[in-house]
Amino acid sequence: MKRTVMSIFGTRPEANKMCPLVRELESRGEIESIVCVTAQHREMLDQMLAAFDVHPDYDLNIMEKRQTLSTITAKAMTGLEGILQKVRPDIVLVHGDTTTTFASALAAFYNHIAIGHVEAGLRSFDLQSPYPEEANRRLVGALADVHFSPTKNNAANLRRERINAPVFVTGNTAIDALKLTVREDYAFENEALRKLRFDQKKVIAITAHRRENYGAPMENIMSALGRIARAHPEAQLVYPVHLSPYVQETAHRHLDGIENVLLIDPLGVADMHNLMARAFFVMTDSGGLQEEAPALGKPVLVLRRETERPEAVEAGTVRVIGTEEEAIVSEAGILLSGGARYHQMAHAVNPYGDGFACRRIADDLLYYLGERDTPAEDFSAGGA
Ligand code: UD1
Ligand code: UDP
Repeated sequence: MKRTVMSIFGTRPEANKMCPLVRELESRGEIESIVCVTAQHREMLDQMLAAFDVHPDYDLNIMEKRQTLSTITAKAMTGLEGILQKVRPDIVLVHGDTTTTFASALAAFYNHIAIGHVEAGLRSFDLQSPYPEEANRRLVGALADVHFSPTKNNAANLRRERINAPVFVTGNTAIDALKLTVREDYAFENEALRKLRFDQKKVIAITAHRRENYGAPMENIMSALGRIARAHPEAQLVYPVHLSPYVQETAHRHLDGIENVLLIDPLGVADMHNLMARAFFVMTDSGGLQEEAPALGKPVLVLRRETERPEAVEAGTVRVIGTEEEAIVSEAGILLSGGARYHQMAHAVNPYGDGFACRRIADDLLYYLGERDTPAEDFSAGGA
């Protein structure tokens, strides 16, 4: 009999990293793959589902404008209860560190259903930053029955917490997704991107949305971006703005009307990945971009005080520069000058995956469920 695996996710980054895995699970004869989305995000989730041609079996459609962490948690858990009781999957897979991730894991736990945590073991070691993600992933780490860690470093974090459940090192499925999207002959869907002259301007790809940056840090970031644009006419800032009303308001207030700043709606994932692949460098507070850009050989300035992804910092392609205005303006200026710092940072590194994470996770999952005799060989950056 097939084993029922229910993947539950709700936001753009979870979808980006779970959809390639869903496709892999669907290809396995031993598995009945069910997809349930909370739709903590709506438009940004739907963009990802369309890009990967994934059609959810269940959709809780919980998103509200300016939703709070409590409403997301309560609506997701209440909605999941009946579905989990009806389907009774052999295991639920959750991803990463969002509120959907935590609420889904807790709902599975309350219903005595096993939990597999994909992208397990990332830690910033600061409960307040990223907020609330560090708490979410630690809580799911405590609840999960099996962990799929992208890197050896992530697995070591779990072992230090004396987690007894099995931990597999698989690579990050973000890199699997990247392999499907980036092409040299890619034609952008977004019209403004189609018109950009990547050969004539130093394009900076930008995203920013983190909750712990709401308030003064976000004001600093936007103000710094405006100054960078005005001081560097050779630069073209491209910023697809997250749909959060808070982020929209702040970004437009600071950046509207500046000639070399392009503020656009969130991009389809293929456009986003190909934008990064053609950019001069990337500025972001996003987790996913910190994994994707290094694989594309692009320097990244991280607009946060810490990171749970130290691997690319150690490899030299990512710098964590904080959220102070002066520091952001000065670091971007150094990279724009294209000197030694730029060249030190602009080399492709792949500490997060080799494009085969989904295959490993499916093999390890079948091993965990007793359907295979051996697990996959662990992912090791730079080869086994
Ligand atoms: C969430 C995750 C964060 C993740 C981020 C990725 C939590 C607590 N946070 O944060 O870990 O890095 O997603 O983007 O789980 N909105 C729309 N349409 C959309 C998506 C969002 O209108 O498709 C608006 C809504 O008004 C919503 C707001 O954005 O209320 C904020 O969304 P929410 O999921 O609460 O927070 P994010 O900052 O997106
Ligand atoms: N992304 C996208 N369109 C955009 C901005 C980001 O498809 O306009 C992709 C990005 O390439 C990455 C994922 O969304 O794969 C990251 O999502 P986000 O930054 O929202 O969340 P985080 O990674 O910080 O949790």
